[in-house]
Amino acid sequence: MTGGATISRRALLAAGAAFGVGAALAPARTGLARVPAAFEPTQRLTLAAGETELRLLGADKPATRIYAYDGEPFRLVRVPRGTRLEARFENRLAEASTVHFHGIRMPNEYDGVPTLTQPVVEPGGSFTYRIPLDDPGTFFFHPHCDETGQSGRGLIGALVVEDARDPAFDAEYVLCLKDWRLDGQGGLLPMSEPDGAAKAGTFGATRTVNGRPHLDLAAPAGGDVRLRILNVDSTRIMDIGVEGAEAWLIAIDGHALPPVPMDRLPDGIWRMGPAQRIDVQVRMPRDGRPVTIGDYRAAEIFTFATLAAEGRARGPRRRGPLALPPPDLPMPDLKAAEFHSFTLQQATDAAVKDTGLPPDDPLARALIDSLCVGATTYWSIAQQSWPTGERRNLPPPLARMQAGRSYRIEIKNETRYPHPVHLHGHAFAVLSSSKGRLPKHFADTVLTQPGEAVEIAFVAAPGDWVFHCHILEHMETGMMGWFRVV
Ligand code: C2O
Ligand code: CU
Repeated sequence: MTGGATISRRALLAAGAAFGVGAALAPARTGLARVPAAFEPTQRLTLAAGETELRLLGADKPATRIYAYDGEPFRLVRVPRGTRLEARFENRLAEASTVHFHGIRMPNEYDGVPTLTQPVVEPGGSFTYRIPLDDPGTFFFHPHCDETGQSGRGLIGALVVEDARDPAFDAEYVLCLKDWRLDGQGGLLPMSEPDGAAKAGTFGATRTVNGRPHLDLAAPAGGDVRLRILNVDSTRIMDIGVEGAEAWLIAIDGHALPPVPMDRLPDGIWRMGPAQRIDVQVRMPRDGRPVTIGDYRAAEIFTFATLAAEGRARGPRRRGPLALPPPDLPMPDLKAAEFHSFTLQQATDAAVKDTGLPPDDPLARALIDSLCVGATTYWSIAQQSWPTGERRNLPPPLARMQAGRSYRIEIKNETRYPHPVHLHGHAFAVLSSSKGRLPKHFADTVLTQPGEAVEIAFVAAPGDWVFHCHILEHMETGMMGWFRVV
């Protein structure tokens, strides 16, 4: 710390009041505010979005043209905590795009939301993101532009921020779960159908993990495996369970929690909507029996990975889970917090019928493109819908907030479908669920069930941050709003 940082905040404020101009400079010089010094990248990389081929139906079937970063489906970026990442995005697609680093607390200008935080990156264009990665954990990145189409075609990368303080695991695997909408010849079917968008979403029937139907993974008998499981599907809610071994839920959306034995969760599963992630610790049986990990929600269980014993773990038999260091996140002050309640609903007609251009009018088309949203409105938050083709302007913010202040937000799901709700740029505390099903934890996305009210709290960070359902069709048909934090 420099000498200046030892001056008390009150003294500084007083000095600022006395010397006027000095007040604006003081916080940056002393490090009292969250204003970073000049951004010094410690790692640079290029993320080029483009088309590539993937054999999703099997080696003997035609390949599918998908989208990927750097030609690598589910490209994995792995960096140490504290990295200052400079990522140059190059758009080699035939459509506009942006990159959103999901779950990362960062300066608003790199958040990747068209219109709100940056212009879209046109085909052939580029944009450089400068992202501080101070929170360890399992994250991902994806476009924030025609997401149903682009992420639906596979444009998704995984981001692992490693923490040198973590306990040593005997093996670690990153598992990206995503379904694909394919015809029998490997061609892609339309990513969205009106009946899906207006209800539970349009599902893919070809299920994959890291682009494969199943993974056979190895780990030493008696050893501890860390699984980083990401639901990067556009639509599907999954019930993740482990069979054949002791296992603990050790992190949610990247953030550690006191380990919860998987078999102590209701039904022995963790329910996970699109964009949600979990870290699971699996203790391999000492007798070498295999362990399976699956999604138990669908009528047909999707066993996406088998862990087979290979060799033996060294050292004495371990008992209990290996806890991760607790998260180092701003703790909301619940007593002082301002309360807001937002209701998720179907859009009313009134919200849709604005002045209007017919949806096929070229100007309407251009407006849709510049906002990167769909042309139909089915959903709303607090009776507002993110604009679609017939509406011209951004809606007003759902709330105006003060940077550094604590907020408690109730999210009431008054629809007949579950919605995983995501807030950009923050890690929030999940405080309670009216159905009593959630342990206290930090997250960036929380699943709300029909008829459920979930309460979250956070310390607001400066910027314009979107708040939306991560079932991509829902978000693109209205279920998105934003908070202005100044
Ligand atoms: Cu994965 Cu708007 O986010
Ligand atoms: Cu939704």
